[in-house]
Amino acid sequence: MRSSYDLFIDGDFVAGGGTPFTTTDPATGAALAEVARATAADVDRAVRAADTARLAWARTTPSARGRVLLAIAAAIREHADELARLETLDNGQALGQARGDVEVAARYFEFYGGGADKLMGETIPLGPDYLSYTRHEPYGVVAFVLPWNAPLQQAARGLAPALAAGNVGVVKPAEDTPLTTLELARIATDCGLPPGVLNVVTGFGEEAGAALVEHPLVRKIAFTGSVDTGSLIMRTASDRVIPLTLELGGKSANIVFPDADLDAVARSSWTAFTIKSGQVCSAGTRLLIHTDIYDDVLELLVDRARSATVSRGLDDPDIGPLATRAQFEKVTGYLKLGLEEGARLIVGGGVPADPALRSGNFVEPTIFADVDNNMRIAQEEIFGPVLCAIRFHDEDEAIRIANDTRYGLAAGVWTTDLSRAHRVAAALDSGQVYVNEYFAGGIETPFGGFKSSGFGREKGFEALRHYTQLKTVTVRI
Ligand code: NAI
Ligand code: MG
Repeated sequence: MRSSYDLFIDGDFVAGGGTPFTTTDPATGAALAEVARATAADVDRAVRAADTARLAWARTTPSARGRVLLAIAAAIREHADELARLETLDNGQALGQARGDVEVAARYFEFYGGGADKLMGETIPLGPDYLSYTRHEPYGVVAFVLPWNAPLQQAARGLAPALAAGNVGVVKPAEDTPLTTLELARIATDCGLPPGVLNVVTGFGEEAGAALVEHPLVRKIAFTGSVDTGSLIMRTASDRVIPLTLELGGKSANIVFPDADLDAVARSSWTAFTIKSGQVCSAGTRLLIHTDIYDDVLELLVDRARSATVSRGLDDPDIGPLATRAQFEKVTGYLKLGLEEGARLIVGGGVPADPALRSGNFVEPTIFADVDNNMRIAQEEIFGPVLCAIRFHDEDEAIRIANDTRYGLAAGVWTTDLSRAHRVAAALDSGQVYVNEYFAGGIETPFGGFKSSGFGREKGFEALRHYTQLKTVTVRI
């Protein structure tokens, strides 16, 4: 890791106009590196570099674009150890999970590298006198405004399909976790990605982020983060009449029927709310348990929580620190609120006693039982390792509770009854449903929200179409 990082514009690291800011290690609060602070003028430079590179990249053959992406995938794997370490230092997550994210990032470039030359249009039958066909054309400059919970993985998730489809990108990573995105840009350029095709402007939301989404040469926005910021950015996109993808939060229900394999339920439901210390938009944070097995499931989860390791990410614990101090304040606030609202705390609920962890953003994995779905802890996204357990008595009640939220990102269903699995999956207002394994699926499966969780789809072949605009050409013969 270097002690200071510049912006990445037009294939090179360049100084920013603002006073550099410090990114910190969430496990200790210690400074990690100085990072360039992009001003509106820097953002303008980045967007212009992208716009200049736009036509040449769009006219590169899809197979040639695909080969560059495949080279990036291989280079990410070559640098996997250093990227994972850097991610853990900057974002706090357990090293093993950071390694997983690096591999997922490589898979995105691999998948869309292979997909670049398979994005086909249609011919439309109009009879002998016409030839009509569709073309999937890139938008041009795509602005990515990204959060701090899975920085490298989320950058790859958006960039790989966008670049494969012939777009160029300017990325504004979260101010809390900029380092791996800068490394990705360097690696991609070393792999032959032409200068200007991928630019990174580090800095703050109201400054660099706002300047980016407002820039007149930006033709599409892809945002991942909070509902409030997403809705603000949507207003900018609305003024400019440009499309956007919003990948916002969730409060996803994980529903357990009495015929489920309870050991598998406990294993997977634990991961569902503790991976990345719960800082996952699709985390399963409302566990809906049938009354017949309610106590059994909670007992298994409490046992799991008691044996959990909480430590700095480099130790590869079950639970690392939260990525930011603000997030720590937010999560500990919800721990108090849960008690005030009358939920029954059955494990965790505080910060670890270990004095070595005191200066980091650590919280214990926490389970509230007997939660009423109307409580704020059941309705609001906490984004920490906090589970709300809710009892239900029959299928209709489970579906009603699961859907009683502003969000609609993910849901889990646990049952061995095939008919029930599909019936409930169809009834849930949610962009994805996992049956008998929370987070089942991969980079190949389309991902995105219903309701306030957003719109547009990332991942899968769907994302490749999503980063294109459709043109119809009709010829009179
Ligand atoms: P945020 O939504 O404010 O930040 C996300 C990104 O937006 C960052 O890069 C930030 O710099 C940028 N941004 C902020 N204001 C902007 C503006 N006016 N114009 C352009 N860009 C702007 O998220 P924040 O405040 O860090 O986290 C708050 C909550 O959001 C979390 O507690 C969590 O509940 C939720 N969240 C959800 C995520 C998801 O994956 N869906 C990821 C991160 C946070
Ligand atoms: Mg940091």
